[in-house]
Amino acid sequence: MGKLMHLALIMDGNGRWAKLRSLPRSEGHKAGAKAAADVVLAASRRGIGYLTLFCFSTENWKRPKAEIDSIMGLFSSEFESLLEKIGSEDIRIVHLGRRDRLPSSLLSRLDKAVERTRENKGMTLQLAIDYGGEDEIERCVRRAIASGEKDISFSTLLSYVDNPDIPSPDYICRSSGERRLSGFLLLQASYAEIGFYDRLWPDWDESMIDTIIEDFNKRDRRFGGI
Ligand code: IPE
Ligand code: IPE
Ligand code: MG
Repeated sequence: MGKLMHLALIMDGNGRWAKLRSLPRSEGHKAGAKAAADVVLAASRRGIGYLTLFCFSTENWKRPKAEIDSIMGLFSSEFESLLEKIGSEDIRIVHLGRRDRLPSSLLSRLDKAVERTRENKGMTLQLAIDYGGEDEIERCVRRAIASGEKDISFSTLLSYVDNPDIPSPDYICRSSGERRLSGFLLLQASYAEIGFYDRLWPDWDESMIDTIIEDFNKRDRRFGGI
């Protein structure tokens, strides 16, 4: 069993968590952001090389404007506290997804965080914000064509993803009991292990990282061999 190098998480269930408590959905997102910070720290301390968090999908723009505004506002404000928390952790932050539709205030915070952590050599934290697998495939194909590629093999395509230096995920996990990928890392998921956990995202904490590592270590990855 190889090491869990790249863990990718679909952070789902914020709305249901809030509903169970008769709170507005925005409170669920706030609690979800806090859980995310704990999980990031735990992953870094447990030696995970790459952690990808699915924060906002290309389809999430379908939600009511008030909810989108509260999520985007939260991303901006939580950045500061996340950076503070991970301050001494040697974590490198990168963005995955489209930039053209994100509010400029969020983009400038994101860029600052990326810039400030660029030289860090510990865990890479890949934040998928306005990310969709189908959208990424389209953008890869367009980039490849614009670069004059004639014969676009799968590995050629993979070299045009947003962050080509990041290896494909070893384990994709989703919270909240839903059993689907919702477009997450479609190009990179071919041989990822997949895990579904019933716990709603805001209830996640450091202990989930231990559970995940334990579950992953039980998997027998064969990659088509025997
Ligand atoms: C995940 O929680 C956060 C985002 C998709 C932005 P949801 O908001 O999807 O929560 P549920 O699925 O409605 O419970
Ligand atoms: C997937 O969750 C996207 C994120 C976690 C950011 P959704 O809640 O948007 O997915 P669906 O709509 O239930 O498939
Ligand atoms: Mg959801």
